[in-house]
Amino acid sequence: MPSIRTLFTGGLLVSAASAATYAGFNSGSTKADNSVKQLADFQAEFETASKLVGTPTSFNSVRLYTMVQGGTTADPISAFQAAMNTNTKLLLGIWCSQTTTIQNDLTALSTAIKQYGTKFTDLVIGISVGSEDLYRNSATGVANKAGVGADPSVVAGFISQVRSAVKGTTLANVPIGHVDTWDVWGNSSNKAVLDAIDFLGVDAYPYFESNRGNNSIENAVALWDEAYQAAMAAANGKPVWITETGWPASGPDWGQGVPSVANAKQYWDEIGCTLFGKTNTFWYTLRDSNPVDKAQFAITDDLSTTPKFNLTCPPVKAAISTTSSAASPSATSSSGSGSGGSSSGSSGSPGSSGSSGTSGTSGSSGSSDTSGSPGSTTTSSAAATNSSGAAAGTVAPQSLLTAALFAVAAMFTL
Ligand SMILES: *[C@@H]1O[C@H](CO)[C@@H](O)[C@H](O)[C@H]1NC(C)=O
Ligand SMILES: *[C@@H]1O[C@H](CO)[C@@H](O)[C@H](O)[C@H]1NC(C)=O
Ligand SMILES: *[C@@H]1O[C@H](CO)[C@@H](O)[C@H](O)[C@H]1NC(C)=O
Ligand SMILES: *[C@@H]1O[C@H](CO)[C@@H](O)[C@H](O)[C@H]1NC(C)=O
Repeated sequence: MPSIRTLFTGGLLVSAASAATYAGFNSGSTKADNSVKQLADFQAEFETASKLVGTPTSFNSVRLYTMVQGGTTADPISAFQAAMNTNTKLLLGIWCSQTTTIQNDLTALSTAIKQYGTKFTDLVIGISVGSEDLYRNSATGVANKAGVGADPSVVAGFISQVRSAVKGTTLANVPIGHVDTWDVWGNSSNKAVLDAIDFLGVDAYPYFESNRGNNSIENAVALWDEAYQAAMAAANGKPVWITETGWPASGPDWGQGVPSVANAKQYWDEIGCTLFGKTNTFWYTLRDSNPVDKAQFAITDDLSTTPKFNLTCPPVKAAISTTSSAASPSATSSSGSGSGGSSSGSSGSPGSSGSSGTSGTSGSSGSSDTSGSPGSTTTSSAAATNSSGAAAGTVAPQSLLTAALFAVAAMFTL
């Protein structure tokens, strides 16, 4: 009889066959000392990302949080030039909280289109209008003192402005989305945003989710699975991109969540390795850039191409290890329709708290290093992007594997 490992391998091969996907990191507009990133800084990041030793897929994409170069009013961020120099795909970002206008971002975008032409626009895989704005205004965000967010009507209005701005340009067909924590998507009060977007950007951090029970690294897969399934269920058939996730390598304990290099590796292996190459994923992160955050997520020191831990995925181990903690399929699906509500504490991203203090002006919004996911253009592939397709190909493989294992186990029991 075939071993369980053989069955798993077969399943993974099938799901991996779906469509081109993007992998990369998040990148704020400032460094850890709050100084503004310049061309050389972005270029060094993108070069390191693409040359990291042992990556399971090519990390040649980046998610930005603003289009405006720090220290200027509306100049295109130098990350654009760095991306052109290194052939890095871009998920563009626009900061939408604590502001009544996104005109500076739109001006920077328009300038970049004129100045760089298709050398720039060919690299753009998506535009995220906002980052965790709904989370900051949610019950959890308020409880976490995450800062000032934006109402759904405001975000939806900005999305509409971005659509008008790209109309008739070479970016006209680029998918427009919004990045937020996983649990805001099931909140019906946020429907205006969900209706306005082409894709959902989802941030989820089991490390921060002590309000959902035991958030130890051993339970991270179960928390992650439930969060991902809830976002997928709320998505209404729209593509879901993972725009921020990761586990800190150092910093304070957060409930049962303990930062360490070993735990960061376990999280990479058990969650990251189910996503890379299958779902557009922007890991948190390559380089820490928010001095307010005590938890440090960088997977490498000082942009070394040698990471803090082995990035090569151990596929079989990752699949097997999830079976004890993962909920049964029925348990995970039940979370989908319910809004995150009070029971699900969404994690604010590490940047949220810090960013609220530093991003007061729209021009400096890039200082928030937390969001910015490079949305990938899964739109071109229906199979990869809609939720039916996702059920077959891009649902967290762990869930499928868990289900498969249950089925196999049931067979053996019978
Ligand atoms: C649901 O969303 C609205 C609008 O964003 C927000 O005001 C409200 O706090 C959210 N509900 C919860 C339980 O977070
Ligand atoms: C949390 O879960 C882990 C793994 O199951 C366990 O070792 C630990 O004792 C739990 N902590 C608490 C406080 O329940
Ligand atoms: C990294 O992990 C992979 C997968 O488990 C393993 O095959 C490889 O030998 C490891 N590399 C190092 C340098 O330990
Ligand atoms: C999603 O994919 C399924 C299966 O390919 C297809 O029947 C359905 O029309 C798609 N839905 C959307 C919204 O694209």
